[in-house]
Amino acid sequence: EEEVVVEEEYLFKVVIIGDSAVGKSNLLSRYARNEFNLHSKATIGVEFQTQSVDVDGKEVKAQIWDTAGQERFRAVTSAYYRGALGALLVYDISRCSTFDSIARWLDELNTHSDTTVARMLVGNKCDLETLREVSVEEGKALAEAEGLFFIETSALDSTNVKTAFEIVIKEIY
Ligand code: GTP
Ligand code: MG
Repeated sequence: EEEVVVEEEYLFKVVIIGDSAVGKSNLLSRYARNEFNLHSKATIGVEFQTQSVDVDGKEVKAQIWDTAGQERFRAVTSAYYRGALGALLVYDISRCSTFDSIARWLDELNTHSDTTVARMLVGNKCDLETLREVSVEEGKALAEAEGLFFIETSALDSTNVKTAFEIVIKEIY
Protein backbone atom coordinates (compact mmCIF):
# COMPACT_ATOMS: atom_id res chain seq x y z
CA GLU A 1 0.00 0.00 0.00
CA GLU A 2 1.38 3.33 -1.00
CA GLU A 3 1.17 6.13 1.50
CA VAL A 4 1.11 9.78 0.59
CA VAL A 5 1.96 12.18 3.38
CA VAL A 6 0.91 15.78 3.02
CA GLU A 7 3.19 17.81 5.24
CA GLU A 8 3.73 21.25 3.71
CA GLU A 9 2.19 23.88 5.93
CA TYR A 10 -0.29 25.28 3.45
CA LEU A 11 -0.86 22.20 1.32
CA PHE A 12 -4.44 21.14 1.79
CA LYS A 13 -5.81 17.86 0.55
CA VAL A 14 -9.27 17.95 -1.01
CA VAL A 15 -11.05 14.84 -2.33
CA ILE A 16 -13.74 14.59 -4.99
CA ILE A 17 -16.26 11.77 -4.66
CA GLY A 18 -19.50 10.68 -6.32
CA ASP A 19 -20.90 8.14 -8.76
CA SER A 20 -19.27 7.37 -12.08
CA ALA A 21 -19.83 9.90 -14.88
CA VAL A 22 -21.16 12.72 -12.68
CA GLY A 23 -18.24 14.83 -13.95
CA LYS A 24 -15.63 14.66 -11.16
CA SER A 25 -12.63 14.50 -13.50
CA ASN A 26 -13.98 17.29 -15.69
CA LEU A 27 -14.63 19.54 -12.70
CA LEU A 28 -10.99 19.07 -11.73
CA SER A 29 -9.61 19.59 -15.25
CA ARG A 30 -11.82 22.66 -15.70
CA TYR A 31 -10.61 24.11 -12.41
CA ALA A 32 -6.91 23.23 -12.70
CA ARG A 33 -6.32 23.58 -16.46
CA ASN A 34 -9.48 25.16 -17.89
CA GLU A 35 -10.03 22.00 -19.93
CA PHE A 36 -13.20 20.04 -20.63
CA ASN A 37 -13.48 16.70 -22.40
CA LEU A 38 -16.82 15.65 -23.85
CA HIS A 39 -15.60 12.07 -24.26
CA SER A 40 -13.54 11.54 -21.12
CA LYS A 41 -12.90 7.96 -20.03
CA ALA A 42 -13.80 6.61 -16.60
CA THR A 43 -11.03 7.21 -14.10
CA ILE A 44 -9.02 4.17 -13.05
CA GLY A 45 -7.30 4.44 -9.66
CA VAL A 46 -6.42 7.89 -8.37
CA GLU A 47 -5.22 11.11 -9.96
CA PHE A 48 -4.42 14.44 -8.40
CA GLN A 49 -3.61 18.01 -9.31
CA THR A 50 -2.04 20.72 -7.20
CA GLN A 51 -3.57 24.15 -7.51
CA SER A 52 -2.42 27.43 -5.97
CA VAL A 53 -5.10 29.64 -4.54
CA ASP A 54 -4.83 33.14 -3.16
CA VAL A 55 -6.59 33.37 0.20
CA ASP A 56 -6.45 36.77 1.91
CA GLY A 57 -3.20 37.55 0.11
CA LYS A 58 -1.58 34.25 1.14
CA GLU A 59 -0.67 31.54 -1.33
CA VAL A 60 -2.39 28.31 -0.40
CA LYS A 61 -1.83 25.07 -2.26
CA ALA A 62 -4.64 22.60 -2.66
CA GLN A 63 -3.86 19.04 -3.64
CA ILE A 64 -7.08 17.86 -5.23
CA TRP A 65 -7.66 14.12 -5.51
CA ASP A 66 -9.94 12.46 -8.02
CA THR A 67 -10.85 8.79 -8.00
CA ALA A 68 -13.09 6.39 -9.87
CA GLY A 69 -16.79 6.39 -9.12
CA GLN A 70 -16.88 2.76 -10.18
CA GLU A 71 -16.10 0.39 -7.32
CA ARG A 72 -13.99 -1.95 -9.47
CA PHE A 73 -11.68 0.89 -10.51
CA ARG A 74 -11.17 2.37 -7.05
CA ALA A 75 -7.88 2.27 -5.19
CA VAL A 76 -7.49 1.67 -1.44
CA THR A 77 -10.26 3.72 0.13
CA SER A 78 -8.57 4.60 3.42
CA ALA A 79 -5.50 5.98 1.63
CA TYR A 80 -7.71 8.14 -0.58
CA TYR A 81 -9.37 9.85 2.38
CA ARG A 82 -6.33 10.01 4.67
CA GLY A 83 -5.46 13.57 5.61
CA ALA A 84 -8.27 15.13 3.57
CA LEU A 85 -9.44 18.48 4.91
CA GLY A 86 -12.04 19.16 2.25
CA ALA A 87 -14.43 17.13 0.11
CA LEU A 88 -16.64 17.72 -2.89
CA LEU A 89 -19.60 15.31 -3.04
CA VAL A 90 -20.76 15.39 -6.63
CA TYR A 91 -23.99 14.28 -8.30
CA ASP A 92 -25.42 14.88 -11.78
CA ILE A 93 -28.59 17.02 -11.74
CA SER A 94 -29.86 15.07 -14.79
CA ARG A 95 -29.65 11.65 -13.07
CA CYS A 96 -31.49 11.28 -9.76
CA SER A 97 -29.80 7.93 -9.01
CA THR A 98 -26.54 9.86 -8.55
CA PHE A 99 -28.26 12.15 -6.05
CA ASP A 100 -29.65 9.13 -4.17
CA SER A 101 -26.08 7.81 -3.90
CA ILE A 102 -24.88 10.89 -2.01
CA ALA A 103 -25.99 9.36 1.33
CA ARG A 104 -23.67 6.41 0.67
CA TRP A 105 -20.74 8.66 -0.31
CA LEU A 106 -21.32 10.76 2.78
CA ASP A 107 -21.27 7.61 4.95
CA GLU A 108 -17.98 6.55 3.41
CA LEU A 109 -16.49 10.02 3.89
CA ASN A 110 -17.66 10.17 7.51
CA THR A 111 -16.25 6.70 8.19
CA HIS A 112 -12.80 7.68 6.92
CA SER A 113 -12.50 11.24 8.17
CA ASP A 114 -13.57 13.45 11.03
CA THR A 115 -16.33 16.05 11.01
CA THR A 116 -13.96 18.99 10.62
CA VAL A 117 -13.67 18.20 6.90
CA ALA A 118 -15.15 21.07 4.86
CA ARG A 119 -17.82 19.40 2.74
CA MET A 120 -19.52 20.77 -0.36
CA LEU A 121 -22.48 19.13 -2.09
CA VAL A 122 -22.11 19.77 -5.83
CA GLY A 123 -24.95 19.36 -8.34
CA ASN A 124 -22.97 19.21 -11.58
CA LYS A 125 -24.17 19.52 -15.22
CA CYS A 126 -26.49 22.45 -14.48
CA ASP A 127 -26.21 23.26 -18.22
CA LEU A 128 -28.57 20.30 -18.78
CA GLU A 129 -31.59 22.23 -17.50
CA THR A 130 -34.04 20.52 -19.89
CA LEU A 131 -32.97 17.09 -18.57
CA ARG A 132 -33.05 18.08 -14.90
CA GLU A 133 -34.19 15.35 -12.49
CA VAL A 134 -33.01 16.88 -9.21
CA SER A 135 -34.36 20.30 -8.27
CA VAL A 136 -32.25 23.02 -6.68
CA GLU A 137 -34.54 22.78 -3.63
CA GLU A 138 -33.81 19.06 -3.18
CA GLY A 139 -30.09 19.75 -3.31
CA LYS A 140 -30.36 22.60 -0.82
CA ALA A 141 -32.52 20.56 1.54
CA LEU A 142 -30.07 17.66 1.64
CA ALA A 143 -27.15 20.02 2.17
CA GLU A 144 -28.95 21.76 5.01
CA ALA A 145 -29.92 18.47 6.67
CA GLU A 146 -26.34 17.17 6.51
CA GLY A 147 -24.52 20.43 7.24
CA LEU A 148 -22.89 20.76 3.83
CA PHE A 149 -22.25 23.73 1.61
CA PHE A 150 -24.25 23.53 -1.62
CA ILE A 151 -23.64 24.70 -5.16
CA GLU A 152 -24.66 23.78 -8.71
CA THR A 153 -21.91 23.73 -11.33
CA SER A 154 -21.22 23.03 -14.96
CA ALA A 155 -17.80 21.74 -15.95
CA LEU A 156 -18.98 22.16 -19.55
CA ASP A 157 -19.70 25.91 -19.46
CA SER A 158 -17.58 26.65 -16.32
CA THR A 159 -20.47 27.86 -14.14
CA ASN A 160 -19.40 28.01 -10.46
CA VAL A 161 -16.50 25.56 -10.88
CA LYS A 162 -13.87 27.89 -9.41
CA THR A 163 -16.29 28.98 -6.68
CA ALA A 164 -17.06 25.38 -5.66
CA PHE A 165 -13.39 24.54 -5.06
CA GLU A 166 -12.49 27.87 -3.55
CA ILE A 167 -15.30 27.93 -0.99
CA VAL A 168 -13.98 24.61 0.32
CA ILE A 169 -10.33 25.72 0.24
CA LYS A 170 -11.12 29.01 2.00
CA GLU A 171 -13.17 27.18 4.63
CA ILE A 172 -10.20 24.90 5.38
CA TYR A 173 -7.89 27.86 5.64
P1 GTP B 1 -15.61 8.35 -13.21
O1 GTP B 1 -14.19 8.66 -13.45
O2 GTP B 1 -16.07 7.11 -13.91
O3 GTP B 1 -15.94 8.28 -11.75
O4 GTP B 1 -16.51 9.55 -13.84
P2 GTP B 1 -16.38 11.12 -13.57
O5 GTP B 1 -17.28 11.50 -12.44
O6 GTP B 1 -14.95 11.51 -13.45
O7 GTP B 1 -17.01 11.76 -14.89
P3 GTP B 1 -16.26 12.51 -16.10
O8 GTP B 1 -15.66 13.78 -15.63
O9 GTP B 1 -15.38 11.56 -16.78
O10 GTP B 1 -17.50 12.91 -17.02
C1 GTP B 1 -18.42 11.95 -17.50
C2 GTP B 1 -19.16 12.50 -18.72
O11 GTP B 1 -19.95 13.63 -18.35
C3 GTP B 1 -18.22 12.96 -19.85
O12 GTP B 1 -18.81 12.64 -21.08
C4 GTP B 1 -18.19 14.47 -19.66
O13 GTP B 1 -17.95 15.15 -20.87
C5 GTP B 1 -19.61 14.76 -19.14
N1 GTP B 1 -19.68 15.95 -18.28
C6 GTP B 1 -18.90 16.24 -17.23
N2 GTP B 1 -19.25 17.41 -16.68
C7 GTP B 1 -20.30 17.87 -17.41
C8 GTP B 1 -21.11 19.05 -17.35
O14 GTP B 1 -20.97 19.92 -16.49
N3 GTP B 1 -22.11 19.15 -18.28
C9 GTP B 1 -22.34 18.22 -19.24
N4 GTP B 1 -23.32 18.42 -20.10
N5 GTP B 1 -21.57 17.10 -19.34
C10 GTP B 1 -20.57 16.94 -18.43
MG1 MG C 1 -13.25 10.42 -13.45
